[in-house]
Amino acid sequence: MHQGCVDLDLNETQLLVQKTAREYATRVVAPRAAAIDETEQFPREVLKGLADIGLMAINVPEELGGAGAGVIAYALAMQEIARACASTAVMMSVTNMVGEAVARFGTDAQKEHYCPRIASGECLLGSFALSEPDAGSDPGGMRTTARRDGDEWVLDGAKQWITGGGYAGLFIVWARTAPPETSAKGISCFLVEGGAKGLKIGRPEDKMGIRGSNTVPLEFDGLRVPASALLGQENGGFKIAMMALDGGRIGISSQALGIARAALVESITYAKQRTTFGVPIASHQAIQWKLADMQTGIDAAHLLSMRAAWMKEQGKPFSKEAAMAKVFASEMAVRVCNEAVQIHGGYGYIRDFAAERHLRDARVTMIYEGTSEIQRVVIGRTVLA
Ligand code: CAA
Repeated sequence: MHQGCVDLDLNETQLLVQKTAREYATRVVAPRAAAIDETEQFPREVLKGLADIGLMAINVPEELGGAGAGVIAYALAMQEIARACASTAVMMSVTNMVGEAVARFGTDAQKEHYCPRIASGECLLGSFALSEPDAGSDPGGMRTTARRDGDEWVLDGAKQWITGGGYAGLFIVWARTAPPETSAKGISCFLVEGGAKGLKIGRPEDKMGIRGSNTVPLEFDGLRVPASALLGQENGGFKIAMMALDGGRIGISSQALGIARAALVESITYAKQRTTFGVPIASHQAIQWKLADMQTGIDAAHLLSMRAAWMKEQGKPFSKEAAMAKVFASEMAVRVCNEAVQIHGGYGYIRDFAAERHLRDARVTMIYEGTSEIQRVVIGRTVLA
């Protein structure tokens, strides 16, 4: 059982990060979101702008170039950016996750080389290359290998669903460094730079939602990295993935929250303007109940996300809490966005309104960084422990 009390008051730093993200989301990101979705255009300038205002390495220490603003600030910023554009938000989330993993598990040389570059946007995106065509929920079953050859590691294999992979300056790549029967105990991770020889970037996926977010398969064909590219201990990579994903799940719950909030705000505006039977549809109890359930779900998800962020910030174990926040927020977001479409009626089903985009964008939050089913596995194990 969780002990302690979540502090719901935001401190000055958290308020500043939230305000900065909100202002940028409203002024820069939101006006471009429909076009980013429609054209699948990679929002390079928008992402560069995020780095310029310190949002690409929010929980990376200041001495490494990050904002050093903590986990709650990161969650709040993600909510704001996702409210405007879920595609932009997921690339921001993964980049923050990669920067944080290097800051936490890297050698001094790795930290000093990569963290400031990620924070400044010189290395515009970080990518997390764990999943494979046949190993998503079960990364212990991965087949990509890394073989030691003198002072180098040689990587061969394939990865799938790599967010931002077509534009990443830095990949964290997981590979087998011991025979398959060692499963999770025989996996290591490596820092691979974008443009490395032997790295082949595949065709971007044609996705249902987050269409502005670049998602690609990768192939490694005898890709060589120096021995110094190993992140953490040899054969210690699986735990790094799990720990990074625990934090990443706070990011995705925040993304889901942001999308749901956008859908609710647009539904309220529409419900006040649209009339049926001589009155705004907001006057009908059928609509009021929908709005009430939407707001309640959003608030509940917010509290779960803030609890997980607060526990991580306090240095407490938070895997279960992050999984609870992620599964609840993502499923809530899909319900809320579905109701937003319903409230908009026919207008919810066409691209002139954002409701349909929110529903398409929300759906993936139940899949990536661990499906809803995997979150329930994580929660269920602790409930039974
Ligand atoms: N923190 C630290 N260590 C952890 C951990 C955690 N959260 N979870 C597991 N471990 C450790 C275990 O303690 C164990 O260590 P020992 O060998 O020392 O005992 C080791 O890791 C293996 O753990 P399990 O036996 O529990 O591993 P498992 O194979 O049964 O898997 C799982 C557990 C929770 C199902 C895990 O496989 C999982 O989370 N799967 C989902 C993967 C996922 O989220 N993929 C998303 C892809 S990335 C993505 O989507 C990014 C993007 O681009 C958007």
